[in-house]
Amino acid sequence: MTDLRQDTRDSFAEIFGRDADGVWSAPGRVNLIGEHTDYNEGFVLPLAINRRTVAALGLRDDRIVRVGSSFADELVEIDLADLGPEVLSGWSAYPLGVAWALGEFGADLDAVPGFDVLIDSNVPVGAGLSSSAAIESAVAVALNEVWQLGLDRQTLAKVGQRAENVAVGAPTGIMDQSASLLGERDSVVFLDCRTLDAQVVPLGLEAAGLEMLIIDTGVEHSHATGGYADRRASCEAGAAALGVESLRDVSVADLDRARELLDDVTFRRVRHVVTEDQRVLDTVRTLREHGPAAIGELLDASHRSMRDDFEISVPELDLAVETAQANGAIGARMTGGGFGGSAIALVPSDAMSRVLVALDGAFAEHGFGQPDLFTVSASEGAKREN
Ligand code: GLA
Repeated sequence: MTDLRQDTRDSFAEIFGRDADGVWSAPGRVNLIGEHTDYNEGFVLPLAINRRTVAALGLRDDRIVRVGSSFADELVEIDLADLGPEVLSGWSAYPLGVAWALGEFGADLDAVPGFDVLIDSNVPVGAGLSSSAAIESAVAVALNEVWQLGLDRQTLAKVGQRAENVAVGAPTGIMDQSASLLGERDSVVFLDCRTLDAQVVPLGLEAAGLEMLIIDTGVEHSHATGGYADRRASCEAGAAALGVESLRDVSVADLDRARELLDDVTFRRVRHVVTEDQRVLDTVRTLREHGPAAIGELLDASHRSMRDDFEISVPELDLAVETAQANGAIGARMTGGGFGGSAIALVPSDAMSRVLVALDGAFAEHGFGQPDLFTVSASEGAKREN
């Protein structure tokens, strides 16, 4: 981390010919449980991870914005007067989308100064660990400070979501940005996506002798196209048919009635969301009362619900989950939007090597590409580094 911060500061000076005013960082996230519940105004339980995006930023005395990054050769330049979602594309839509979205949440884009920013990251891209929310959150906290906007973290999460929804065009919820902005070391963020009330709940993996393994299947997913938006539409149709504002207003006890009112597919989409909300509440209670060693069955049930009812898993994710479970993990599930990306497994430290070997073997046996395997720990949210 120290290196990434210093490297980014050094590269900023090299590229822009002056020192940055400061360096900010924001983490990627893993969702422990609560999938596709955020845009249904339900509950989620993500954590910020120890993989971060760093943004070195310096204000300018004109109205120009220049954005560079270690992962693209181009330097994108735009006048603040021309900034709008319609002119943004490619990776720079994330940082520039945030600058634009801040205007929607109170920044006076006709008055604020331009800036140069350089972005670097060790959050893997395309693994379902919210590398995009990490960029958005790092830039949001940086601009909130240098433009002296005084926006709170919940509002900055909405800014990042708006950038993603409008500038990037992915109809995602509020979870990823909230995790990146509100996360704390060794804790999960229990977020009510209706009120945005957030509570930090201790996770205590190390004390329980557990590690969180990420199994990145390498299967690519995109939330700007296809399945994600379809599922969101099914949830909205289900809520409308049940006469509620959102699926948050449906409880497990209402499901028998829902079965009579909905077609089979919509019913199963609704059942996933409604039971998943309950599993988040159960996980929070279990974590508080018994610690992380007791939540495995809830993770497993969440995966089954996504595989069978919400139908967003893929064979590689199912294999990852089943192999981890069969070789000593206490619980495992796919994490994130689905259709690819990563699974997580809670693995006792003394079973880790067996799980790793079994995963490599199982993927090879099925003719799948080798998964990328690494552990993460719960880390602090976005902050100024220096
Ligand atoms: C993606 C989205 C989130 C959330 C998850 C599914 O990560 O960005 O808003 O909907 O999928 O839980």
